[in-house]
Amino acid sequence: MASGERWVVLRVRRYSPEERRAWVQEYRVPLRRGMTVLDALLYVKQRLDPSLVFRYSCRMGACGSCGVLVNGEPRLACQTQLASVAGDSGVVEVGPLPGYPVVRDLVVDMTRLFENHRRAKPYIIRRQPREVEEAPREFLMTPRQLLEIYQFSLCIMCGLCNAACPVYHSNPRYLGPQALAQAYRFTVDVRDEAPEERLALAASPDGCFGCHFAASCSAACPKAVDPASAIQRLRSIALRASLGLWRKKTSPVAPPLEKPLRRVEASYPTENLVEGADPEEEAKKPVLLDIDPEEL
Ligand code: SF4
Ligand code: SF4
Ligand code: FES
Repeated sequence: MASGERWVVLRVRRYSPEERRAWVQEYRVPLRRGMTVLDALLYVKQRLDPSLVFRYSCRMGACGSCGVLVNGEPRLACQTQLASVAGDSGVVEVGPLPGYPVVRDLVVDMTRLFENHRRAKPYIIRRQPREVEEAPREFLMTPRQLLEIYQFSLCIMCGLCNAACPVYHSNPRYLGPQALAQAYRFTVDVRDEAPEERLALAASPDGCFGCHFAASCSAACPKAVDPASAIQRLRSIALRASLGLWRKKTSPVAPPLEKPLRRVEASYPTENLVEGADPEEEAKKPVLLDIDPEEL
């Protein structure tokens, strides 16, 4: 280790289900440029203590699995620079996300989040299910209609918003900001034709009327989804719908193409092939490009 290198003390809250014991353990980690909290946890796991348990996958803020409490705030470990949270003290406290049962160390049970997400019916429902199942053509949507749902479609189900929500902690039946934001996202999606069940859920005591609108969920969200805003909008829609003042806009299925798609030959990329793939064989396969021949 080079002299003058800075060290950080990771103070990790741990839990052993076998011993039914919770304790805090400290680890000294060298602070390297660009190091994230996840990198620090991996350093501990690989060099100091293989028994430390935490969850991660993508290391790039996409999978949503590395949520932990860092210095009292819910954060993605892979998106949190260690230097930015170490401060002058050089101590960083890491614990499991609150609001979820702890399985072991930093791993929590997210069953409630997934069940509530499922209750919100986070998928397109059409009155004619075959339109989705067989998908003969796409559903029409204007760029503006896409923008209305885009921000809320960025949710990676990391659960940080629920961890930041005091109502989610105190009311075990509350759906939580993650599920309510998704209920809103599909309620206003013009491709969907069945908002009634979601609105009934939203208007229930477990839904958006339980929200206190302090917006700590939105402050915690690493993808700028802003679930608090989604809940306010959902509440407004639920109220107007109960008075018969809201009707859902829906989009039709796209008409048949005026010009049929044309099969075009294109060279197959020879770089970055899956290991074992034969470039010669892959190059013989035609690639169907869905583009207007006028643009070729
Ligand atoms: S705004 Fe509502 S959902 Fe978000 S943290 Fe506050 S109470 Fe929870
Ligand atoms: S709304 Fe944001 S904080 Fe909540 S689960 Fe989705 S991405 Fe995570
Ligand atoms: S490891 Fe996937 S979001 Fe952090």
